[in-house]
Amino acid sequence: MKMKELLLFLSCVLCGSADALHTDIHVVGCSYIHGGVMFGLDREELWYADFEKQVDVYPQPPFIQLISFGDGAYETAVSNLYGCRQLLQLSRTGMKDYPLQRDAPSRVMIYTRDEVELTVKNTLICHVTGFYPAPVKVSWTKNGRITTGGSSINNPYPNKNGTFTQIARLKFIPQQGDVYSCTVEHLGLTKPLIKTYNVETSGMPETLKPSFGPAVFCGLGVIIGVLGAAGGTFFILKANKWI
Ligand SMILES: *[C@@H]1O[C@H](CO)[C@@H](O)[C@H](O)[C@H]1NC(C)=O
Repeated sequence: MKMKELLLFLSCVLCGSADALHTDIHVVGCSYIHGGVMFGLDREELWYADFEKQVDVYPQPPFIQLISFGDGAYETAVSNLYGCRQLLQLSRTGMKDYPLQRDAPSRVMIYTRDEVELTVKNTLICHVTGFYPAPVKVSWTKNGRITTGGSSINNPYPNKNGTFTQIARLKFIPQQGDVYSCTVEHLGLTKPLIKTYNVETSGMPETLKPSFGPAVFCGLGVIIGVLGAAGGTFFILKANKWI
């Protein structure tokens, strides 16, 4: 028994590692106003430079064994960004009037990180993909009002086809009836894309939703049963000429 379990487990590890091709990524990106430098592994951000706060950030939860990028990592990122801007300047002068390709986001999704329980802390996620160039601007509203507290957005992540993905997050506490939205702005869009999230309808667990289905079926079943019994009794009595 124990042996079987062990074999099963081992074969899982083997099949897992047989097709486990890890993807290690280092992104240096810039425009004249934006810039991002990050290291990632298997589509997860392991490290990025926050140029506004002038620090480096390890965004993974602490239970993940962290890979350190060293003490000088932030300074290296600053020089990467400087190099990127110089290249940008060079290519701009070299390729005069180079037409800028603009692909609007192909998909925007809004969902919660954890299963929703009313009054329990959660995170709303706005997942934007398929756009070029980066970045997109994402803003949040709660019940129609712009909300900024507890929101963040990760660095643009390159997709295989040359477009980008960005994930915006908003910390929130689900309250019955609250409506949230994420608004996505991009160079390729003529008007912003808006996705809404309704705590009332999408957030309630199945068991709390008012449900008439089973009660109606049960009631119908009882009525049909009673009618059937009455009909049967009638025909039995009739056959025996009692009525
Ligand atoms: C590029 O890839 C993204 C995500 O992988 C996808 O959503 C998008 O539709 C693709 N765009 C094109 C032009 O193929």
